Amino acid sequence: MKETLHQLFAVASPGVESILRAELAGLGAGSPVIVEGGVTFQGDDELLMRANLWSRTASRILLRIAEFPAANLRALASGAGRVDWKEYLGPQHRILVKATCHKSRVYHSGAAAQRVQVAACEVAGCVRAEVQETSGDGAGMAEATVYVRLERDVCMISLDTSGEHLHMRSYRLETAKAPLRENLAAAVLLRASWDGTCALLDPMCGSGTFPIEAALLAARMPPGGLRRFAFMDWACFDEARWMRVQDQARQQQRPVSVPILGADRDPGAVAIARRNAQRAGVLPWIDFEQRPLARTPDLPGPGLLVCNPPYGARIGNPRDLRDLYAALGNVVRRLPGWRAAILTTDRHLASATGLTFTDDGVPLAHGGLRVGIFITR
Ligand SMILES: C[S@@+](CC[C@H](N)C(=O)[O-])C[C@H]1O[C@@H](n2cnc3c(N)ncnc32)[C@H](O)[C@@H]1O
Repeated sequence: MKETLHQLFAVASPGVESILRAELAGLGAGSPVIVEGGVTFQGDDELLMRANLWSRTASRILLRIAEFPAANLRALASGAGRVDWKEYLGPQHRILVKATCHKSRVYHSGAAAQRVQVAACEVAGCVRAEVQETSGDGAGMAEATVYVRLERDVCMISLDTSGEHLHMRSYRLETAKAPLRENLAAAVLLRASWDGTCALLDPMCGSGTFPIEAALLAARMPPGGLRRFAFMDWACFDEARWMRVQDQARQQQRPVSVPILGADRDPGAVAIARRNAQRAGVLPWIDFEQRPLARTPDLPGPGLLVCNPPYGARIGNPRDLRDLYAALGNVVRRLPGWRAAILTTDRHLASATGLTFTDDGVPLAHGGLRVGIFITR
């Protein structure tokens, strides 16, 4: 990897952009700016690694590797042929190219993707994903995803640095009903300004995503500490630097000193949550119990009650949902000094809690649904 300042782009789910920008600024990103679909920023090789390892809310990190004028397919092919693909890719890579065209004379995204893919394969000797799928001979190959964007006759080529979506932390190998994406759960915690200095309770924790993400945050453990990233398969991968980045992460870790509690009425979900927490390395800091919401004990504050209760579009009988949300409101009211952050699709359900929220629900996208985070004062 070169000692240059890269143009990087962190992909965000709708609604997460401002939280992600703050997160990237905290990691030392240069000039983080919110744009459609995420946050652009600048950084060196180390920041590229740290953004992947540490971002709790990004979906993936892309690296801009080329930008050139391309008013036609011939110019596109020749520009793509001049990219230093060998810096990143080699015969061990199976390459997939995704293209979009906007206000450009090259308007056929399939043709644009094909030109770039052919160029990369010629220069770096990698294999096209479709070819590998037909031959079926790709065991052990590394995946490389390239994003091509044609905008007003300028071609921008970016390489995915992350690999699997960053919400895949490698600890949640089992899920209960309607699990929340890990990076969305982290975004809710950060949006509710939970920083690990007060208690946290998820009384409907399902597979344990909120308590586990909270424990990772409170323990200053990187969310990506258990997984691989695409950049680790690049020709220019600097393993010594990566070891240093990981060492620094280990040095930051500290024990969690606040209560983190998860409960669910479903014993199967609680067992799954415990095993997920064990895999994440945070089980000693979380108290999981099988218990219905109504039996939530009195707990000393301050604290944050956080949950995504069932909502109609996914699980739950609409007739019972209002009662459940009303019961949730009662629990929050009898926990003095506690705030609540509730993620739901429906503002009527949020108001069934009888709680007063700071705003009308910060909108977020969750698996194709529009949800809102309702936070109490
Ligand atoms: C949408 S899921 C939560 C998903 C969780 N955040 C995750 O990421 O896996 C809602 C959970 O609420 C639980 N639940 C529903 N009614 C409950 C009640 N009355 N008391 C306790 N848990 C309840 C369900 O068992 C389910 O696990």
